[in-house]
Amino acid sequence: MGRWPEFVQIKEVGPRDGLQNEKKHVSTADKVHWINMLSDSGVKEIEYSSFVHPKWVPALSDAHEVGQKIKRNPDVRYSALVPNMKGLELALEAGIDGASVFMSASESHNKKNINKSIDETYPILQEVINEAKQAGKHVTGYVSTVFDCPYEGKITPEQVVRVCDRLFEFGVDDISLGDTIGTAVPSQVDQLLDVVLARFSKEKIIMHYHDTRGMAIANIMASMEYGITRFDSSIGGLGGCPYAPGAAGNVATNDVLYLLHGLGIETGMNDKKLQEAALYIQNKLGKTLPSKSLAYTASQL
Ligand code: HMG
Ligand code: MG
Repeated sequence: MGRWPEFVQIKEVGPRDGLQNEKKHVSTADKVHWINMLSDSGVKEIEYSSFVHPKWVPALSDAHEVGQKIKRNPDVRYSALVPNMKGLELALEAGIDGASVFMSASESHNKKNINKSIDETYPILQEVINEAKQAGKHVTGYVSTVFDCPYEGKITPEQVVRVCDRLFEFGVDDISLGDTIGTAVPSQVDQLLDVVLARFSKEKIIMHYHDTRGMAIANIMASMEYGITRFDSSIGGLGGCPYAPGAAGNVATNDVLYLLHGLGIETGMNDKKLQEAALYIQNKLGKTLPSKSLAYTASQL
């Protein structure tokens, strides 16, 4: 293998991580149309919404209707965020191929985000993972605040591995490691992956970078040096966690594709269709999204 992988797989999280923090209301019909555009872009997985408590994340309170109305492309895995059994039941009714469970490596963020301590969260997720696997679904475990926590500061790789150990023991298929507040620089990625990949196979690890300080692309490069080939990203750079103060959106799918395709790495995704989907949601939100490559393309139209 050369310096870079031949193929990288992107999970599009814009309809979930992107919209969950948006104040402007996007109608269900517009979400459905937008997700259908994304489905046609060659992406292999879309996290289409979140079955959390509607009072906690009002922007995604139509998860059920969205799940029922989107046109399913058989080549795409449609997943959704589920915090507990109630969320899983609703998600299964609406239709999911994958369930994404989530918790944090930091005690305080876990508490703020899902109202439970880390120890209280384990049995809840164990049951969800077990039921989702019984129902034949792919299960991804998100671990948030893997570098820094907005309330506690630095998080050690050992804290992260402790949570990953439990989630793998409960049966998740893979784990997505979240730089929830977008503070990491590549040396932190090295420190974390040195420890994580000494324990788990790189095929089971996904990196999830928020781009608060513009470091996400550098961190993706650092991750690929470790052989990581799976990343989460959000079209246009939409997003942020409502329970992580100061966090910006995910790294923009458009910018990631510009990087990967420029390096000669295949993704199976079509830049033009993604630009169209990004411009569509930018127009619906009535604001300029952070993606630099999107801004450049839009200026050329
Ligand atoms: P809680 O209040 O502790 O829940 O919230 P509870 O279990 O005590 O139940 C209270 C009431 O809520 C009950 O209703 C339940 O039925 C209801 P009542 O009997 O009082 O009428 N309830 C629900 N209703 C609908 N859907 C549900 C559900 N669960 C309970 N799923 C809970 C606990 C987890 C529900 C809440 O804290 C919550 O919804 N949190 C979600 C926060 C969130 O979505 N954060 C953003 C996503 S995470 C993220 O962005 C990070 C990530 O991107 C990775 C990274 O960047 O690091 C993934
Ligand atoms: Mg996130």
